[in-house]
Amino acid sequence: MKYTPLGNTDLNVSRLCFGCWQLSPSFWGDIDIKPWEEAVRVAVDSGINFLDTADAYGNGYAEEQLGRLMQTENLRDKFIVATKFYWNFTAPDARFADTTYDYIISACEASLKRLRTDHIDLYQIHAWDPITRPDEVARAFAKLKEEGKVRWFGVSNLNPEQMELYRGHFDISSLQPPYSLLNRTIETRELPYCLNHNIGVINYSPLFRGLLGGRYHADSVIEGARASGPYFHGEGLRIITEAVDQAKQIAVALNLTVAQLALRWTLSNPAITSAIVGVKKPDHILGSLKAAEDVLSQRDWHQLGNLFAKAVAQLETQTV
Ligand SMILES: NC(=O)c1ccc[n+]([C@@H]2O[C@H](COP(=O)([O-])OP(=O)(O)OC[C@H]3O[C@@H](n4cnc5c(N)ncnc54)[C@H](OP(=O)(O)O)[C@@H]3O)[C@@H](O)[C@H]2O)c1
Repeated sequence: MKYTPLGNTDLNVSRLCFGCWQLSPSFWGDIDIKPWEEAVRVAVDSGINFLDTADAYGNGYAEEQLGRLMQTENLRDKFIVATKFYWNFTAPDARFADTTYDYIISACEASLKRLRTDHIDLYQIHAWDPITRPDEVARAFAKLKEEGKVRWFGVSNLNPEQMELYRGHFDISSLQPPYSLLNRTIETRELPYCLNHNIGVINYSPLFRGLLGGRYHADSVIEGARASGPYFHGEGLRIITEAVDQAKQIAVALNLTVAQLALRWTLSNPAITSAIVGVKKPDHILGSLKAAEDVLSQRDWHQLGNLFAKAVAQLETQTV
């Protein structure tokens, strides 16, 4: 496994990060916990030292499972643990965005308890909260840092203006945005901003929620909440799986699977620190490892990018 410093921190993270959103039954359906636990062990054995979760994943379930496993198998020291707060799910009805001082302090305490740890390595704001002042967020962060409960702070799903506003009040070490062959929005503004300010980037959905994993065909029936996306059924699925089939030929020539190629494509961008792979079972880790061994040539990176850009454009033309 290859490692790289995360932005301005002293954290040396593996280029693949273990993503825990899959422990969110409301989106991914019920997950078999034994293969997931084995995947965590396989990740440790493979040198993956970076793990991403959130309090909102399964309303605490993901953090609880992780905390239990880390404690019973003595794994806490094996991982740089990143988690997130933002969704206040303490009320019995709908969840809402909350980055107020009191909520941050209580959310962090709750995450520490579920994770069965005394500190969080990277504490991330899950998304933008338009109605809480940045200086209020900064006060909570200063207290958590002073008490040793959090080491570094990051953000997720923010644009450069939002990061700039926060950076006037506290240090941002990382951004967690979506980035893959099927979603390149951040290339224009967020990635140059992060490079310029030494902010680490840990990209989520590098396999576009599994669609770039190579398992699906035009007539596949994809279950669960992700099926609602336009690429996951009908004409969208047909066009994207056709592009995936073409990408498989490039992958074979490089002695990679198409999933490894798609992951390596994101890791070849110099602004990307670590790609977060969503994991349900050991094969998801074992099948991803090779991606991090090297980067793509300029030629292969552009060829692959153009292939999927064409597919996306084709779909957009058809849906206008
Ligand atoms: N900050 C945020 O707002 C945010 C949002 C989304 C995700 N995240 C984080 O990012 C992580 C990853 O994102 P994601 O789950 O959306 O996307 P992803 O990694 O693009 O997709 C995960 C899916 O890809 C498939 N897969 C995984 N490894 C594979 C391999 N080696 N070969 C073939 N297929 C493979 C599996 O799908 P199948 O079930 O089809 O096999 C898996 O469920 C999450 O777990 C979470 O930690 C953060």
